[in-house]
Amino acid sequence: MDNPDTTGTAPWSDADVRARVEALLKTLSLAEKVGQLVQIGAADFVPGPKPEVVIRQGGAGSVLWLNDTKRFNALQKIAVEESPSKIPLLFALDVIHGYRTIFPVPLALAASWDPATIEGAQSVAAQEARAAGLHWTFAPMLDIARDARWGRIVEGAGEDPYLGAAVAAAQVRGFQGAYLGTPGRVVACAKHFAGYGASDGGRDYDPVYLSENQLRNVYFPPFRAAVDAGVGTFMSAYMDLNDVPATGNRWLLRDILRGEWGFGGFVVSDAFAVGNLVTQGFAHDARDAAQRALSAGLDVDMASSTYLDHLTGLIEDGTIPLEVLDDAVRTILAVKVRLGLFEQPYTDEGLLADVIARPEHRAEARRAAQRSMVLLRNEGQLLPLSKSLKHITVIGSLANSKEATEGSWMVFGHVPAAVTILEGLRAKLPDATIDYAPGPEINRDIPSWFESAMAGGSRASQSPEDAERAYQAALATAQRADLIIMVLGEHANMSGEAASRASLDLPGRQEELLKAVVALGKPVVLVLLNGRPLSINWAADHVPAILEAWEPGTEGGHAVADILFGDANPGGKLPVTFPRKGSHAPLYYARNTTHSPEESPLYNPRYWDGLPTPLYPFGYGLSYTTFALTNLAVSAPQVRVGDSASVTVDVTNTGAVAGDEVVQLYIHQRFGSDSRPMRELKGFERITLQPGETRPVSFQLGPAELGYWSTNAGRWVQDATTIDLWVGSDSRATLHTQLVVTV
Ligand code: NOJ
Repeated sequence: MDNPDTTGTAPWSDADVRARVEALLKTLSLAEKVGQLVQIGAADFVPGPKPEVVIRQGGAGSVLWLNDTKRFNALQKIAVEESPSKIPLLFALDVIHGYRTIFPVPLALAASWDPATIEGAQSVAAQEARAAGLHWTFAPMLDIARDARWGRIVEGAGEDPYLGAAVAAAQVRGFQGAYLGTPGRVVACAKHFAGYGASDGGRDYDPVYLSENQLRNVYFPPFRAAVDAGVGTFMSAYMDLNDVPATGNRWLLRDILRGEWGFGGFVVSDAFAVGNLVTQGFAHDARDAAQRALSAGLDVDMASSTYLDHLTGLIEDGTIPLEVLDDAVRTILAVKVRLGLFEQPYTDEGLLADVIARPEHRAEARRAAQRSMVLLRNEGQLLPLSKSLKHITVIGSLANSKEATEGSWMVFGHVPAAVTILEGLRAKLPDATIDYAPGPEINRDIPSWFESAMAGGSRASQSPEDAERAYQAALATAQRADLIIMVLGEHANMSGEAASRASLDLPGRQEELLKAVVALGKPVVLVLLNGRPLSINWAADHVPAILEAWEPGTEGGHAVADILFGDANPGGKLPVTFPRKGSHAPLYYARNTTHSPEESPLYNPRYWDGLPTPLYPFGYGLSYTTFALTNLAVSAPQVRVGDSASVTVDVTNTGAVAGDEVVQLYIHQRFGSDSRPMRELKGFERITLQPGETRPVSFQLGPAELGYWSTNAGRWVQDATTIDLWVGSDSRATLHTQLVVTV
């Protein structure tokens, strides 16, 4: 396998890897080859024989849903000493935003608009995971999500392909290091290929219908960026894409991924997805499913045992040519060779304790959390708060929940150990009185299967009487305070897989309690803990200070306290549009212009019962300081198709404290082969400026930014046209110029 990210520092050249793989392949029987394509689940909920038995027989190449260094070593010993092929296993797990040191959820990391921070976060995750004995993480999730109802929006970088591609590459570099096989790192997995975020109605797993134009211009770019960054593996998505399940989709897996993009790694299915090609009404039976998946380019069967049961027969009777199987095996062996597993298959059982004790991991988690938070409102400069406050009340069940602070997608078997917001505030102001009242609990109306199988059971819901008592107690406690910090939002199980919802309102009685607390007439700060946009319409008009803290991870409580008391200045920006209602979804800024634009005298409202304008736009976020952008200039008023221009702007910190601005460049193509979005992000940079400091920022605009896949032309084009350019602090930027592109 040719790894595009291989540098001179990798111990293996591509030629070495190929030679080693060919030599190994020659030694394998048909059954041993099939075994390499089988991934077994070591969790109790997976039916079938024990992993030890399957591995001893050579029936597995990798293992998932296990997080136990001793057992990794025990299973590995069976593989390398007792199995027929003696080929080591790959141990894989979902390490999404940290292993033991938990970082902000991916949506929050994207809100930092800071690839270096994101790369650093995933590098810490990789080092801890590898020290535990894991080789491979099922991350990053690169699904563009434009529908805030979709629960898995929390796992991605939001709605935008340009930001998404930058975040994708940063995550791959963080997980894998400079090259695939970097010591102390893991192999990344770009998932879920492709289109999963566009399910009908935002309902998880439901079918997806996307045009080739939407796929290539919007949904593919993060995946392409991952390939270019050298990602080792891909995971196919669960759902039907234009009526063909992604797991059996030859166009996706062979034509695009390998053919066009030159990906040389391997593709794993999502859990049970090969077997479920039958359930999905695509394959006739399990044998047909195995045949269609492998033929389509799906190398590894995650947990369904369909390959184990049927591939040998399919090769023996000639239904699948042996070369197809061999090619799949080659890609898996290549990853094992690059990781050095043949030289060192085991993990030192004492290593993890040392690695997780590194103080810089905690420090990076705190800094990443600070940088990911978004200040949504700050009327009258209520924030930052004074450290001389004497009596604060904190309200909200999320304020002291370690689980909610660490957020969605906990590592299998991990016990949440976050500093909660209440703990962070108490640590910040040790001499103040900080009362706490949780208020009523919040719960999902309908639990998911995961809560029973993976997360130790769903929480028992509170009786209405207990909820009422908790509500009244919160109000009574608030009455005694000088200032109230309300921590509201969603619990960790309310976003993520199987966690879509129809409404984007604050769940339960949270808004009712917020209104009652605000009615007391005291200063109120709202801190949001959540993994998706929420329609906090009332709060947006009535609560003076609102901080979007997302699900901030292990150091989340400290980071929130740092921001509220001015030890850190918020500089994050929304990577997704916040709609006013769930029924406005999908809502995103990069929509096409219409015949009836807002500024037209013939403008017609899109709905008559409330305009679907964003509550907060894409790219939005405030600071404790202010910025001015001036002197927008393009290097040339006119360029030819294929040439580049640079765009520069001066950014000045016009306030009294140091702060970060994310400078954003948006374009619009006025005419051309196809209609294009009214705005598209094509450049961004997060900079820190001291009070009074001015710095120029520049962006390049060339064919990569100005070209697109045209439906009309059926290919990539760059048009001779006029491009509007805006630079600013969010997607409503007004500082404007233009660039003429000629043939
Ligand atoms: C299902 C999820 O869709 C996927 O993201 C995850 O990696 C696998 N299960 C394995 O846990």
